[in-house]
Amino acid sequence: MSWRIVAVVLALACVVLSRAQAQEAILTVADRGSTRTYTERELLARADVQTVTIADPVYGRAMTYRAVPVTDLLSGLKIAADDDVQTRATDNFSIGIPVRLLLESKPAEAQAFIAIEDPAAPWPPLPKQGTASAGPFYLIWKIGSGARISSEYWAYHLAALTVVDGPLERWPALAVGAEVPANDPVRIGLQRYLEVCIACHRFKGAGEGEQGPDLGQPMNPVQYFQLPALKQLIRNPASLRHWPDMKMPGFAKSRLSDSDVDAIVAWLAYKAKQR
Ligand code: HEC
Repeated sequence: MSWRIVAVVLALACVVLSRAQAQEAILTVADRGSTRTYTERELLARADVQTVTIADPVYGRAMTYRAVPVTDLLSGLKIAADDDVQTRATDNFSIGIPVRLLLESKPAEAQAFIAIEDPAAPWPPLPKQGTASAGPFYLIWKIGSGARISSEYWAYHLAALTVVDGPLERWPALAVGAEVPANDPVRIGLQRYLEVCIACHRFKGAGEGEQGPDLGQPMNPVQYFQLPALKQLIRNPASLRHWPDMKMPGFAKSRLSDSDVDAIVAWLAYKAKQR
């Protein structure tokens, strides 16, 4: 073989190899000072991979995954008890999850895993998402009876997990005053708002959401909606008005109960009264 042919073969091999690497999805896990990355293959080869079968609210049926416990992936990182883990999806959609849920010390209550899609055996397409599956990485939960995990915390199309300050530290303007009792709907409303709405909406600038309008300024929706209509909008925006671009999803009662919607509106009303 002449050196020319060898060179061509080598060049082709490089192209094929770099293609294969480029196609391999990467999960980034970071705290404030360090960053680790994992490929699907690396995660699937770990000793702590388990087979997890769960009732999957995103697929709407029982699913079985190869998955690594989140506690293992976060171990060794610098994390404070009131931090959040910010999940970022491949389309940049992002939601903060309290670390106390992710590092649940009683696995019987709720245990978080990162499910890994095997490129050789892809998952089925998600309902209403064309051909896209929940992969390449997907945050799933094994939930014991009584535990409550927001369906927003099932983060699919996952690309990164980053330890950040909790939302009330980053945006104190969202907080509820100390005079409000522990079980007051206003407090529950703030929790639900942080779980569900903050991903798309800011409130008086607080938050990172960009898809929807700011819900605190210039006016708060409780000031320009009749409350039953506002509750109906939160439940199902399409039941109020239509246009091609409607981006806000509806929330079924399994995701937000009637009392959750009432609580979110109570929090908005509480905030509207504050100067
Ligand atoms: C996936 C993104 C997304 C989420 C999550 C979301 N919204 Fe929205 N929301 C939007 C968008 C986008 C609009 C603008 C109208 C549209 O395109 O549907 C909107 C509009 C609204 C409006 C109407 C504002 C106006 O003046 O017309 C209200 C009120 C509202 N959202 C409240 C909420 C609440 C409360 C939650 C949490 C339960 C929530 N949204 C969750 C994206 C979202």
